[in-house]
Amino acid sequence: MAATKVLVVDDDLNIQRVLVFTLKQEGFEVVVASDGQSGVEMAASAQPDLILMDVAMPKLDGYAATQQIRAAEAGGRRIPIIMLTAEADVGERVKGLRAGADDDIVKPFHPLELMARIKALLARGGTLTPAAAGAEPATLGQLALFYGAKGGVGTTTIAINTAIAMTRELRRRTALVDANLQFGDLRVFLDLGLDTASIVNAVSEPDLDADLLRKLIVRHHSGIDLLLAPPSPEAADIVMERQRTDPSTLTNTLSLLRKMYDYTFVDMVKTIDDFNLQLFDEADVIFVVMTADLSCLKNVRSVLETMDHLGYEKGKMQLVLNRSNAYTGINVNNAESALNRKVDYQVINEYRGAISALNSGEPFMSSRPDGPLGRSVSEFAKQVDEQMAKETATARA
Ligand SMILES: Nc1ncnc2c1ncn2[C@@H]1O[C@H](COP(=O)(O)OP(=O)(O)OP(=O)(O)O)[C@@H](O)[C@H]1O
Ligand SMILES: [Mg+2]
Repeated sequence: MAATKVLVVDDDLNIQRVLVFTLKQEGFEVVVASDGQSGVEMAASAQPDLILMDVAMPKLDGYAATQQIRAAEAGGRRIPIIMLTAEADVGERVKGLRAGADDDIVKPFHPLELMARIKALLARGGTLTPAAAGAEPATLGQLALFYGAKGGVGTTTIAINTAIAMTRELRRRTALVDANLQFGDLRVFLDLGLDTASIVNAVSEPDLDADLLRKLIVRHHSGIDLLLAPPSPEAADIVMERQRTDPSTLTNTLSLLRKMYDYTFVDMVKTIDDFNLQLFDEADVIFVVMTADLSCLKNVRSVLETMDHLGYEKGKMQLVLNRSNAYTGINVNNAESALNRKVDYQVINEYRGAISALNSGEPFMSSRPDGPLGRSVSEFAKQVDEQMAKETATARA
């Protein structure tokens, strides 16, 4: 079999030398171009399997060269491109992805990291053509919100771990969106840094499509895909403002997610603002997460009333009682009679399991799926999946 051919497009002779050396050692065949223009020409003439593209170059920069390569491919074979950027700035990186790159790596990088990226991209079949992508089976396309009736009841914990159970145990493609725009917790819970793309990039993109959205989504090693909250509280305003002036930007993002995933879960905060109201409207189901204490019961009652006023049918709200077996003096029956409706799902209380997961940055569903808390959330996920799969089947019949 012929060696995999990599085209290096970089004007810096030192970087060229290092890359050629490293790639050859790994058994790749290497061709080199020293500016964007010859990069575009060689992409056509040398037919590489992958391109490493520098950004700042004479004649044609890396963005423009990538765009021209993509335009020339027009429906044909798509060569995976990794941008070599000097910027850790997310805006700059998104620019590269928008131009048509598949991944990027910030200089200076370790050769091992570059090799890992190259291999991951080749393994992913970076050459996936749009036709092949379209052949993926249809998704369930369900949008489910996790809305805490009160702060600290475990909304984020349940959203994350249910998403992992859906992915790993039920083999559902699942995305998790952090809609706690100001103080999103997913980065902390999942031990992720601040330098990744986020929902800001998604809603700021006038031509957002599935390909671009896929690049803004961060894959966690547990298998779930994340659309993260803005890296800073100030950036949350950008998202709110975009949503306020043009609600279709949020609708578009959500409908792309529905097409890409069986389940799109959204971790929310309690505020009732325009952004959250739009989420309520668009959702298929709202899991109202609660605990069995008086102030929470009072909140649940008012949430249910609000939803009722908004005209949602009763089934759209489902009650999830977290820490159901914790001693609070109020049991499930008391809660149900106070609310005059049934509690739909229960997740048990296990302080130790929850806290050790938090401290290690590894969700319990990924580190201890067979522990008591893991089993309880698995059971919840299974019930939800059965219910939702049944509903989608009926709706499609
Ligand atoms: N079933 C459970 N058993 C024991 N502890 C739990 C359980 N669920 C959540 N916790 C703990 O409760 C705390 C709050 O959880 P979490 O951050 O998920 O709640 P939240 O409702 O998302 O809070 P916030 O309002 O800050 O967004 C965490 O320390 C978590 O580990
Ligand atoms: Mg939370």
